[in-house]
Amino acid sequence: MTSWQPGGVLLGADYNPEQWPEATLAEDVALMQQAGFTFATVGVFSWALWEPTPGDYKFERLQSILDTLHEAGIMVDLATGTASAPPWLARLYPDAMPVTREGLQLSHGSRQTWCPSNPDFGERSLALVKELATRFGDHPAVRMWHVGNEFGCHNLMCFCGISADDFRGWLKDRYTTLDALNHAWGTTFWSQRYADWADVIPPRTTTAIPNPGAELDWRRFCSDASLRQYLAERDLLRSITPDIPITTNFMVGHAFDGLDYHQWAPHQDVISNDHYLGSHLDQPEIELALSADIIRGLAGGNPWVLMEHSTSAVNWQPVNLAKAPGQMLRDSLSHVARGADTVAFFQWRASRSGAEKYHSALVPHAGKDSCVWHEVCELGEVLGKISEVEGSRTQSRVALVHNWDSLWTTDGDSTPSEHHRYMTEVNRWYAACWRAGLSVQGVAPGDSLDGFDVILAPGLHVVTDAEIANITKAVESGAHAVITYFSGTVDELDHVRLGGYPGGFAELLGVHFDEFAPLLPGQTAALRSTSERVQLAGNASGSIWTERGRADDGTEVLADYADGPSQGSPAMTRRTVGNGSAWYVSTSPDDASIDSLIAALSDDSGVSPTVPGLPEGVDAVRRVGEQASYLFVLNHTDQEVAVPVVGHDLITGTESTDGSSLLLLAGGVAVLREGSTS
Ligand code: GAL
Repeated sequence: MTSWQPGGVLLGADYNPEQWPEATLAEDVALMQQAGFTFATVGVFSWALWEPTPGDYKFERLQSILDTLHEAGIMVDLATGTASAPPWLARLYPDAMPVTREGLQLSHGSRQTWCPSNPDFGERSLALVKELATRFGDHPAVRMWHVGNEFGCHNLMCFCGISADDFRGWLKDRYTTLDALNHAWGTTFWSQRYADWADVIPPRTTTAIPNPGAELDWRRFCSDASLRQYLAERDLLRSITPDIPITTNFMVGHAFDGLDYHQWAPHQDVISNDHYLGSHLDQPEIELALSADIIRGLAGGNPWVLMEHSTSAVNWQPVNLAKAPGQMLRDSLSHVARGADTVAFFQWRASRSGAEKYHSALVPHAGKDSCVWHEVCELGEVLGKISEVEGSRTQSRVALVHNWDSLWTTDGDSTPSEHHRYMTEVNRWYAACWRAGLSVQGVAPGDSLDGFDVILAPGLHVVTDAEIANITKAVESGAHAVITYFSGTVDELDHVRLGGYPGGFAELLGVHFDEFAPLLPGQTAALRSTSERVQLAGNASGSIWTERGRADDGTEVLADYADGPSQGSPAMTRRTVGNGSAWYVSTSPDDASIDSLIAALSDDSGVSPTVPGLPEGVDAVRRVGEQASYLFVLNHTDQEVAVPVVGHDLITGTESTDGSSLLLLAGGVAVLREGSTS
């Protein structure tokens, strides 16, 4: 396979020139060259233009777009266009329209309105892909294929009859017999036992709590059904253009939880992600960093593509916040610091009409005479100056173990507390590492943990015996693991492990809890330090959850509950295991208490911040290359800060030496070459 990366850190965007008169193309290209723009994703939503009536393909416009971009030295990530079908598909194949959980069949009129199990959609989409790959596979502009777009974004689930058949087929593959399915779903309870496969249906709206096993398998099936469409397109592309790398854009972030990307990642030649800031978040920069660190994990630690983010506001949140001056550059470099070698956006030019006309773009409605355009040019210039970081790898000694099964079950029905939300807890532990300046990488529970000295597993609810053994082995070999409440409780069938909580992790942790005792919203339980190891404040507390139980002999209790429903039970424990240690936290501690625990863990493990002594709100991340290492320093505060770092700032060309400090303006950024690594 040829490398698609021409070198350097690329600036790019979704490019949808068909919205504009043809003459705009020349103006666009001139602007792209002015900004240092070299990467265009073309055709994401162009199916209705490419095939205006069934079987009648019209690619003249695409041809001229590709020719023009190529002449201008702009590489193309060509979309297969299958994300959104043309209106005629609904007329010809009404069954391809998705059906909601309540049984309402949706109509076309928006985007991504198709049932992932529908064979007609499958056939028509593959016919398009074949045409496209045959006609444009050897076009010199085309350097990457972009299959669909954000699979599952709007059509993750379809509850129609075709999907029901497909789901049954998927279940037969998984369980072979109805007895095994009945066992997995615990159908003996509530008179749900199936005696005929024909009675097995997707979890449509029903009277009371739906069967949790069916829900979990349904989520897995939906992820797999979309994956099958991706694989069908990928395989077809590969058979026609074996040398062109293939990707589809993931959506790791606060806005989407639908696909199990651990299953998807191995099928990508290039890992790419879309990330948008949440206006509801207090510190969106931390959630951005988490998303990027999870994506780097999915990329096996290698560089990846930031396929979409926004120059300023989006159009789909209740209130769409404009970015502050300088924020777009800082956000972009935060992704680059964590491994992105391409910084791309939705979209090049802001639309005049249509659903996303108030979404920001590189060329805003105001045109060139705008702050956004100036910042885009500045970003292009900065990416040019830091081009040598391309290919270097972000280093992390902290592994954040997470999975989608835990997300789906924890946030599902009928758990001990609906206030325990999986990603909220993951975010809180990640945020403590961010505040402590520790670099973190996301991993799946079964991934190799070699090279990680600290393992964080917040609320890792669904976990297999083999995955527990993987984490246990890493601890025995010297890693230090923090595991928090509701982890290890169930196996992959969502069956509770008997003998007390936290189930499969109880032995490793040396604890035994016999009851969950969650807290009401606003209620807290006071935490009392019982060891010198973790320094808790006098007002330390836990919220959301507590547990009743005890520590085994040999397990140190670091803090217990001074009041509340679990008074006297351990809240934080630590057990020495081989050269490592296993820590348990049976509540959701306040931020300061999590910080104290992370500090103690750093002492235990020897894992230190990327830059010790950073001012609060300043983020530093290191990428290590073959020739040199690069320190990204990002000031997220509105104050100028002095940062104790040494190196040559690739952006300003200035040197920071021992004894001096790097001065970073409010919101400012620096990328320091730290010297030779050879
Ligand atoms: C993404 C999508 C883009 C655009 C963008 C707006 O989800 O892939 O096409 O809609 O959101 O933020």
